[in-house]
Amino acid sequence: MKPLRKAVLPVAGLGTRFLPATKATAKEMLPVVDKPLIQYAIEEARAAGIEQFCLITGRGKTAIVEHFDIAFELEAVLRERGKTEAMALLEGTQLEPGAIVTVRQQEPLGLGHAIWCARAFIGEDPFAILLPDDLILGETPCVAQLAAVYRETGGNVVAVQDVPREHTNRYGILDIGADDGRLAEVKGLVEKPAPEVAPSTLSIIGRYVLRPEVIAHLSRFERGAGGEVQLTDAMAKMIGKLPFHGLRFEGKRFDCGDKVGFLEAQIAFALKRPELAPKVREFLRHYCPA
Ligand code: G1P
Repeated sequence: MKPLRKAVLPVAGLGTRFLPATKATAKEMLPVVDKPLIQYAIEEARAAGIEQFCLITGRGKTAIVEHFDIAFELEAVLRERGKTEAMALLEGTQLEPGAIVTVRQQEPLGLGHAIWCARAFIGEDPFAILLPDDLILGETPCVAQLAAVYRETGGNVVAVQDVPREHTNRYGILDIGADDGRLAEVKGLVEKPAPEVAPSTLSIIGRYVLRPEVIAHLSRFERGAGGEVQLTDAMAKMIGKLPFHGLRFEGKRFDCGDKVGFLEAQIAFALKRPELAPKVREFLRHYCPA
């Protein structure tokens, strides 16, 4: 079995739900507390032993690439002024030279098309996908949990959680077979089904570990929900041919593509920071008296 060393991060989205903030800034650069969303995703993947990254970018996303480059002037000034604490804050942005490559998705043809754009990077290797909008707070990073299942099964594995039935039309939804409460065998997949026809309420959230065979299916450019090339449809073609599981991961997921989810993430992540938690708890009491 080939080890998991690669991750693909689609970041080409326009971020329309966060306008005007995202007019001139990539939405993946929006910070939760003090770190941009994209950095949480890269750090999560690195914690699972992933060393090579492919960002699927688009126009107006250069700040993301800059973020993981050397900031020569800034670092020189900090060094000169002896600001070692500030220097230390840059640590998570420093990757091995050559660890990040970017590919442009020239047209917004869907998540499946974005992943297909990374085909040369993926080659014949298994790879993780992280959608930076989904931010996960937990003991063991979600991708590390998926990587452990990949090592167990050698097949595809997606992170899943139950959602209210009225929300099935926002997600890829699983039809499941054998289920031990943690790992569920995938029998079918539907992208954004209406609540009445959804085969379950078990939804895919933005973390996947996939075998490279998915690329052949994406290459057909079949259009699915919303007229887009859907990753979910290409994954569905692999059911029965390779082991395929949904993992009910441990941790809490915040949908940072949504304003309320993004605000909740700010609070939850701030409350995890010992230097901030007491002050945040204090002001929250003011807004929400018991
Ligand atoms: C994408 C996928 C969907 C998945 C979701 C997770 O949808 O197509 O299957 O459930 O991410 O966040 P999007 O949110 O891009 O519409």
